Amino acid sequence: MATPVVDAKYLKEIEKARRDLRALISTKNCAPIMLRLAWLDAGTYDVKTKTGGPNGSIRNRKDLSHPANTGLKMALDLCENVKAKHKIITYADLYQLAGVVAVEVTGGPSIDFVPGRKDSNQPPEEGRHPDAKQGASHLRNIFYRMGLSDKDIVALSGGHTLGKAHRERSGFEGPWTEDPLKFDNSYYVELLKGESKGLLKLPTDKSLVEDPDFRRYVERYAEDEDAFFEDYAASHKKLSELGFTPL
Ligand code: HEM
Repeated sequence: MATPVVDAKYLKEIEKARRDLRALISTKNCAPIMLRLAWLDAGTYDVKTKTGGPNGSIRNRKDLSHPANTGLKMALDLCENVKAKHKIITYADLYQLAGVVAVEVTGGPSIDFVPGRKDSNQPPEEGRHPDAKQGASHLRNIFYRMGLSDKDIVALSGGHTLGKAHRERSGFEGPWTEDPLKFDNSYYVELLKGESKGLLKLPTDKSLVEDPDFRRYVERYAEDEDAFFEDYAASHKKLSELGFTPL
């Protein structure tokens, strides 16, 4: 594992990479896939064994066509262009910075970013990501394993305000909201409306309105975008720092 040295030079490089990512994400309209990359790299964490988490290992996964990671090659390649210009930055930091910038440039909240993650080549064991065909108890199993809470589950699911599902990647098709390049609270508004023509609701998304403990957060976020942004920024920061102690 290479330990990044977070000194003034590293911090300066982070700021330059942040600017490059802003430009790249805006011109390529690739915020959704960048956010998905950050989430899938971080979302392998196991709080008991302290393994997985945001460590850049997603780039080495033997099989990027693993169901949960299909389609991410494009995001990895885009990040590689930024890495080539800012070599001292770890992949782990770069992917999490890309996730933070993706939310910011699409109109979402600012998320505090602390650099210093280490890279790992160790692929996590299979089965750590959620299966979209399941429901509330499965979501709890997966997110509690990471040390996250019901509130984190509902707030982070709001990431689906961006982007769409692709039949050839996941078997699902369509965006969750009318404007999939704008980060706002419309994901929750749509969830409460029920089925809408042309918009997607995964079984896991639907479980957020069916489960009463999840539903109260859905209702709060649908009603109050500021409350969503505040909780989202806190949950996203937690996700991006799983197993990572800032230096
Ligand atoms: C896309 C499942 C949580 C961000 C997707 C897709 C699935 C999925 C099936 C479609 C992939 C495709 O066909 O291209 C899930 C499940 C989750 C979850 C079961 C459990 C709660 C999250 C979280 C975030 C996130 C926590 C970020 C905070 C995204 C984004 C896309 C996406 C931005 C769109 C990607 C694109 O447009 O290419 N997710 N996801 N997801 N997910 Fe999730």
